Amino acid sequence: MTAYDITHHNYDVVVVGAGGAGLRATLGMAEQGLKTACVTKVFPTRSHTVAAQGGIAASLANMGPDNWQWHMYDTVKGSDWLGDTDAMEYMVREAPKAVYELEHYGVPFSRTEEGKIYQRPFGGHTTEFGEGPSVQRTCAAADRTGHAILHTLYGQSIKNDAQFFIEYFATDLIMSEDGVCQGVLAWKLDDGTLHAFNAKMVVLATGGYGRAYFSATSAHTCTGDGNAMIARQGLPLQDMEFVQFHPTGIYGSGCLITEGARGEGGYLTNSEGERFMERYAPTYKDLASRDVVSRCMTMEIRDGRGVGPNKDHIYLHLNHIPKETLAERLPGITESAEIFAGVDLTREPIPVLPTVHYNMGGIPTNYWGEVLNPTADNPDAIAPGLMAVGEAGCASVHGANRLGSNSLIDLVVFGRAAAIKAGQVVDPETPNPEFNKASLDAALARFDKVRYADGGTPTAELRLEMQKTMQDNAAVFRTDKVLAEGCEKMKVVAGKLDDLKLTDRSLVWNSDLMESLELTNLMPNAMATIVGAEARKESRGAHAHEDYPDRDDVNWRKHTLAVVDGAEVTLSYRPVHLDPLTTTDEGGIDVAKIAPKARVY
Ligand code: FUM
Repeated sequence: MTAYDITHHNYDVVVVGAGGAGLRATLGMAEQGLKTACVTKVFPTRSHTVAAQGGIAASLANMGPDNWQWHMYDTVKGSDWLGDTDAMEYMVREAPKAVYELEHYGVPFSRTEEGKIYQRPFGGHTTEFGEGPSVQRTCAAADRTGHAILHTLYGQSIKNDAQFFIEYFATDLIMSEDGVCQGVLAWKLDDGTLHAFNAKMVVLATGGYGRAYFSATSAHTCTGDGNAMIARQGLPLQDMEFVQFHPTGIYGSGCLITEGARGEGGYLTNSEGERFMERYAPTYKDLASRDVVSRCMTMEIRDGRGVGPNKDHIYLHLNHIPKETLAERLPGITESAEIFAGVDLTREPIPVLPTVHYNMGGIPTNYWGEVLNPTADNPDAIAPGLMAVGEAGCASVHGANRLGSNSLIDLVVFGRAAAIKAGQVVDPETPNPEFNKASLDAALARFDKVRYADGGTPTAELRLEMQKTMQDNAAVFRTDKVLAEGCEKMKVVAGKLDDLKLTDRSLVWNSDLMESLELTNLMPNAMATIVGAEARKESRGAHAHEDYPDRDDVNWRKHTLAVVDGAEVTLSYRPVHLDPLTTTDEGGIDVAKIAPKARVY
């Protein structure tokens, strides 16, 4: 193996990733005086949160009646009763506080006439425990909410002396012999040096793995890096079979058109010009939850009512909305529609198609962001020294399906929660233990192995094979046959990582090596997804199984745990947390209100 010269760094906390969750965690840690490093493979304000358009959910009640219990009901129902009840209560109760904090940090939210934060309707967000009309709960900065949040949190983090290591690609965790996380190894992309970050707490905020699929709204950087680091340590990933398809990716490019477009009055039509959502979801129509709308669109296309020459997509209409409203509330998608679909949305509909958008599954955590390493005796046992937040984490507040705008609130609530917890458990006065040399050596050996891979399969070729297989075999609708075939194909695809071929062995701005390391990260995510999906014999949320069309709460109201070792995946299950954080005597929700029932919109 190459003898690498390593630069060592010591911190109380290392946060990996600088999206909304990573920055909120970094800021919260630094505000408390913890010596905090944020290691990020892209410039913070280019993290994928920048693409979050429509907004952030919180029951501020600025536009009409709302409260946290209604938000909780919608989240529980949206999750198709797979979310952990304590975590969901924590998120929706903390949401208003977290949004007002963002406002005070300086996020430039859009405003109502009275100067309050503007809120718009989003799919699945309702009033009166699903009995009343849609609610305006999604706080927005036009249709660039993620952009506004990222810039504000980055500025605040710098103001609080957090240290940023920008364009450093974290490759692997360093673990002690007894399983305590001690830090990460990272490769500095612009000068090729290697860096070992020693920390008492490592927070993985590395985002999702949308790029395991062929067509995704996710940035090309969304390669599930943190999930894969966890998998390589033999720790489980949770509920990976639940992959969200956003109803309105632009046909062809996959670029996101916010659900806020439908929140502002947009609607979908088929080739007959019919507003078909009225048939499937008579109450909430185009504002039913995402999994439902994506399935209905797919059914329309399968039944021959798709639009375009190949009848393979759907139209989204905004041309009836006043131009001034579009300019004020949806300026970003007005540009996207023109650039990526060649459409002037003030005059013509946008061609759209359900597109991979979000991973409900990820690294199992409690609602403080602490990573879980479940055992037979204790399904909530903690993996010491490790936290995961944002899309990488699975608290689990989204269960089998996430509501739109519950992602940004997840990022800030749990980034903040992780900082609160770290403030309690990390002692800045205690010196960091020495690295476990064997673990550091193993991380270096893996880096070296990929760098010098000299097989017969180019990275781009293998990545495409993986993406096409996932797109075809783990799609919106699934069957036993298609999933079983997908598992077999993916085993072969994952096996080919041993035959990888790189042509560039250098260390400075080596995109061949970078993309190859990312592919080694995407692969365990893809494997856990398809194997978990094949095993789950029911339909729930985003997992729509045509051979088992009903939700089966008796046998399947449980979280999947997947341990991935190369092309082998071992599954086990852990119980869903059914108890809320507080009782009704303590002001909590009446559990009868959130008991499982048929999920109709
Ligand atoms: O449609 C959107 O603006 C996306 C929001 C989300 O995924 O939460």
